[in-house]
Amino acid sequence: MNTALYYFSGTGNSLSVARSINNQLEGSELLPIVGCLKQKPIKVNAQRVGIIFPLHFMTVPRIVREFLKEAQFVNAEYIFAVVTGLNPKIGNALSQIEKYLNKAGVKFNAGYFIPMVAAHFPYVKLSKIKEPQKLYQEAQDKVLKISESILQLKNEFDKEAAVFGDLKLLVSKKQEHKESFLSVGEGCIRCGYCMQVCPFQNIRLNGKQVEWLDNCHQCLACLHFCSRSVIEYKKLSIGKPRKHHPSVSLNDIALQRQIP
Ligand SMILES: Cc1cc2nc3c(=O)[nH]c(=O)nc-3n(C[C@H](O)[C@H](O)[C@H](O)COP(=O)(O)O)c2cc1C
Ligand code: SF4
Ligand code: SF4
Repeated sequence: MNTALYYFSGTGNSLSVARSINNQLEGSELLPIVGCLKQKPIKVNAQRVGIIFPLHFMTVPRIVREFLKEAQFVNAEYIFAVVTGLNPKIGNALSQIEKYLNKAGVKFNAGYFIPMVAAHFPYVKLSKIKEPQKLYQEAQDKVLKISESILQLKNEFDKEAAVFGDLKLLVSKKQEHKESFLSVGEGCIRCGYCMQVCPFQNIRLNGKQVEWLDNCHQCLACLHFCSRSVIEYKKLSIGKPRKHHPSVSLNDIALQRQIP
């Protein structure tokens, strides 16, 4: 059975999970959602299909929803999703995925949640930001279990994460807005890393200024990969650590722009 793993990742957590699953499944292929959306129609030809992404504002990130609206599932026999985030008890990501897949006329077979490091989300209090090493190890252990289930084509959903139904979210449209809430503080050396890493080419260096354009997906890659840690998200990120997954580089995030 051939497998396609579609992923989106801002700070590398979801990409690291996608890579680990990819390593466990023979003949499987990793495909960046950002790049895939550049060439329409999107024909998904694989029999086993995975969708791997971060929880954003308690739901599916906008770019993943765009992908699901466009994707045509030609041969799919088994479809699963893996969500990375902080807190599985909030959020309707899996029920949203189910909604989109049902519209596309295919079945949603399995959904999983992998808890990840809290530092990526500016709304998290400093006191709640935990030591990452243990979480990364636990995440890796869970990935191995999930891969085993996927190999066996299990129909199952993480109980704690599966908030099915029409959950009304408290997500304000403003938070999901395409405008960014990012700014540069003192100490920018104009290295251009932020511009290079952005999967959406939403940053430009204009003389001495770093400028955000109007298509921010709030993945926070720029904030966490800034070489001087001088990018802030409102005032919420001030004094908090910058983190990206240790196995994922700036280039890995940037490569999502490429059409596969
Ligand atoms: C804009 C934004 C919104 C987020 N919203 C949530 C959330 O509602 N619930 C949650 O548990 N984690 C949330 N997170 C944390 C991410 O889901 C988590 O850090 C994820 O593993 C990041 O994956 P990535 O490195 O692949 O981008 C959010 C992160 C960002 C950047
Ligand atoms: S990555 Fe940081 S230091 Fe480099 S140009 Fe961007 S804001 Fe400035
Ligand atoms: S500007 Fe920053 S937060 Fe917005 S999409 Fe680009 S890298 Fe992500």
